[in-house]
Amino acid sequence: MVWGVTGGLQYLVPGFLKQYLSFEKVRPLHVSSVVFWIIFGAMGAVMSYLQQHTGKKIYSCLLFRIQFLLFGITVILILVSYCAGIFGGREYWEFHPLLALPIVVGWLLFLFNFLKTVGSLRQQPVYVWMWLTGIVFFLFTFLESYLWVFPYFRMHVVKDMTIQWKSYGSMVGSWNMLLYGSSIFLMDKINQHKKYSFSTIAFVLYFTGLFNLMFNWGHHIYTLPTHAYVKHISYAVSMTELFILGRIIYLWKVSLTEAKKHFFRLSYRFLAAADVWVFLTLVLAIFMSIPGINVYTHGTHITVAHTMGATIGINSFILLAIAFDILSDTCQSFEPFKKLFNRGFWLSNISLLVFWLSLIGAGLLKANWQMQTDPVPFQTMMLQLRPFFILFLISGITLMSGMFLLIYPLVRNQWVCYFQQSGDRQKPQHFPRMSRFSIE
Ligand code: HEM
Repeated sequence: MVWGVTGGLQYLVPGFLKQYLSFEKVRPLHVSSVVFWIIFGAMGAVMSYLQQHTGKKIYSCLLFRIQFLLFGITVILILVSYCAGIFGGREYWEFHPLLALPIVVGWLLFLFNFLKTVGSLRQQPVYVWMWLTGIVFFLFTFLESYLWVFPYFRMHVVKDMTIQWKSYGSMVGSWNMLLYGSSIFLMDKINQHKKYSFSTIAFVLYFTGLFNLMFNWGHHIYTLPTHAYVKHISYAVSMTELFILGRIIYLWKVSLTEAKKHFFRLSYRFLAAADVWVFLTLVLAIFMSIPGINVYTHGTHITVAHTMGATIGINSFILLAIAFDILSDTCQSFEPFKKLFNRGFWLSNISLLVFWLSLIGAGLLKANWQMQTDPVPFQTMMLQLRPFFILFLISGITLMSGMFLLIYPLVRNQWVCYFQQSGDRQKPQHFPRMSRFSIE
C-alpha cells in the first residue's frame, strides 16, 4: 500500500523520486506485492481450512515450510531486483523469468501436499473442488504465461499477446477459486452446517465460475486482430455472469437478513463487504466485456478501477475475513480493539468507494479523449484528469489508514504469540479449531 501511495503521488507530481524510485519501479513493486499478498493469503487459507475440514493435520508440515521459504525468499529477491532496476519479465510478472522457477516448484509442493491431505475426492463439498481446480489451474496458467520465453511463441506478436492475456485472465480466475472456496467454508462454519456446500446451486455456480475461468478471457484481446471465434465465444461466456448477477439481486433481501444476523462477527463483516464489492465489480466487468464498450474502456483507468476494486474489495476483504476467523482471540483478546476495528472497517470501505469512483471518472475522460478524431495533446488531457487524481490520492491514503487500523490487532496478536510470552513461550495457534462440524 505504501508503494501504491507513492505511485499515486507520482500521478500528481510526475518525476517525484524519479532518480531512485521511478514509476517504472514503483508500479511493479506495488503490483507484485499485492499479488503475492493474495497468493500467500490464499495458500494459508486453503491449508488452514483444509485441516479444519479433514479434522487432521496436513500431510507434511515440513513440505509446507519449504514451500513457504521458497516463496518468501523469491518474493524478497523479486522486490530487491525491482529496486535495483533489474527486470526482464512481462507486465504483472516483471521480474527475471528465472525467478519464476522456485514459484513453480513451491506450487508443485502445494499441489502434492493438498492431494495427500485430502486423500479421497469422493463425497467432497464444493469448496474442496474449488481449491483443487484453483491450484491446478494456477499452475497451468502460470506456466502458460511464460510461453513467451520460447521463440516459437515470441516470434508471432498476435499469438504471443493472445496467450499472454489469456493466461492472466484465467490466472485471476484460479486464485479466485481458492478464495471463494475458502469463503464458502467460512460461511458454512459460521452457519454451523454444510447445507450450502453440498447443494446443487453451489455446484452450478462453481461450474459457471470454472467455465468463465477457462473461456471468458477474450475481453482482454478484443482489440487484437486474432480469430473472431475466440472473441465471440468469450463474449457469450462472459454474459453467463449475468446469471450470477441476477442471483445476487434476486437474493439481496435474504442476504440482508443474513448480514444483520451475523454482523457482530468481525470475520463476517468482511464477507458482507466483499459481497457488495462482488456486485459492483460484476456490473463493471459485464459492461467492460461488451465489445462496443470495451473499445472505449481499454487502456483507461476504468481497467485499473476494475482490477483494484476486485483485488481490494473482494480478494483482500475475503482474506481479512479468514485472517480474523483464524487468528481472533488466539493469543490476545480482540475485545479492546472493537472500536478501532469499526473505524477501520468503515474508513476502508468508504475510501475504497471514493477511490474506485475517482478512477472510473478519470477513465471516462480518457476514454472520451482517445476516441476523438482531433484530440488535445496527451499532457493537456492528463492535466484535465488532475481533480480525479487528487481524489484518488486522498482516498488512497485514507484507505491505507483504514486497512492499517484493521491489520493492527492481527499483527499485535501475532507479536504476542511469538515474542511476548518469552517465559513460557506459547506456540502460535494457527489452526485452533480442528473439529469437524456436522452435516445437517
Ligand atoms: C490492498 C490494497 C491494494 C491492492 C490489492 C491493490 C491492487 C492493485 C493492482 C492489482 C494494480 C494493477 C492495476 C492494473 O494494472 O490494472 C494496482 C495499481 C496501482 N495501485 Fe493499487 N492496490 C492497493 C492499494 C493501493 C493504494 C492504497 C493506492 C494509493 C493511491 C494504490 C495505488 C495504485 C497505483 C498508482 C497503481 C498504478 C496504476 C497505473 O498503472 O496507472 N493502490 N493496484
